[in-house]
Amino acid sequence: MYKDSKIYIAGHTGLLGSAIIKRLKGLGYANIIAKVHDELDLTNQSAADEFFKNEQPEYVFMTAGLTGGIIANKTYPAIFLHTNISMQDNVFEAANKYNVKHLIFYGSSCIYPKKSPQPMKEEYLLTGQIEETSEAYAIAKMAGIVACKAYNNQYKTNRFIALIPNSMYGPKDNFDLENSHVLSALIRRFHEAKMNKMDKIVLWGSGNPRRELIFSEDAAEASIFAMKNADKLQNTHYNIGSGVDYSIKELAEIVSQIVGYKGRIEWDTAKPDGAQRKFLDSSKFLDIGWRPSTNLEDGLRITYEWFLENIQEGLLNERV
Ligand SMILES: NC(=O)c1ccc[n+]([C@@H]2O[C@H](COP(=O)([O-])OP(=O)(O)OC[C@H]3O[C@@H](n4cnc5c(N)ncnc54)[C@H](OP(=O)(O)O)[C@@H]3O)[C@@H](O)[C@H]2O)c1
Repeated sequence: MYKDSKIYIAGHTGLLGSAIIKRLKGLGYANIIAKVHDELDLTNQSAADEFFKNEQPEYVFMTAGLTGGIIANKTYPAIFLHTNISMQDNVFEAANKYNVKHLIFYGSSCIYPKKSPQPMKEEYLLTGQIEETSEAYAIAKMAGIVACKAYNNQYKTNRFIALIPNSMYGPKDNFDLENSHVLSALIRRFHEAKMNKMDKIVLWGSGNPRRELIFSEDAAEASIFAMKNADKLQNTHYNIGSGVDYSIKELAEIVSQIVGYKGRIEWDTAKPDGAQRKFLDSSKFLDIGWRPSTNLEDGLRITYEWFLENIQEGLLNERV
């Protein structure tokens, strides 16, 4: 990938896409194409085809996807399945037809079995029952991973790359309490508790489950690294994690300190805990030479600064 290579970032307004565009611009990549959802709906097959035909991108970061929390996944499984599969399918087909050099697709750790041994290795895919609440989304992601392999095999190419980032956080994350992931939800809850001078905050579950999180800018770095080292990758998916996991209790303590909340934290153990651990074995990708570089505290400070700037301007709900 050269500084003047034509690079398309699908989904550049989202958490990961915005981190990739920021990093690429910082590195001096000058020929980047990006279209907002309203300008180009990737579920529209003819629009996607037309876009690739006209623009002829050489490299594609396919970060566009429909993402959401447990409630959204349970309420709209058909929309999650249809939207993600149709977007992927349209983009993959056009990328193949118009000879994109490399395309990166993003799976999710929910593709691995619910009772997977930990840490989760790439080969555990399709070896057991997945979590029911996100089944439709996970099946769409699995279809994307299988599609990457299938296109590479059938067309004898290494065009398609599949990365599996663990739960990401960072600027532009979704802070809607019904749709957010654990860290963005904690930031919002602690921020609101601080602003309302609450002396206690009650969080769901025991606080014992462990979660691995990756800062969006590290996942962006991993993506650019994968693009540059595509010739070293095998025709399989690669896990991308930070290599460190924390209990929800530890995460809550760290977030409360960064946000500056001084009250007590209580745990409502009558509420469900979710999976006990979701830790990726990223050793295959680490063996190629990538390393995450942001510790949780630094990533959280950057994320909370972004949150503060955007909540003040009333912009947070735009992504909700
Ligand atoms: N966030 C995580 O923790 C996580 C973890 C593992 C994997 N992933 C995967 O990584 C990828 C990036 O995640 P993310 O968190 O950055 O997602 P995100 O913040 O929700 O961003 C998704 C992007 O896709 C765009 N998009 C959605 N539907 C579209 C359509 N029909 N046509 C064109 N663009 C469309 C969105 O634009 P609008 O907002 O305007 O609709 C947005 O720019 C996704 O595939 C996700 O499944 C995410």
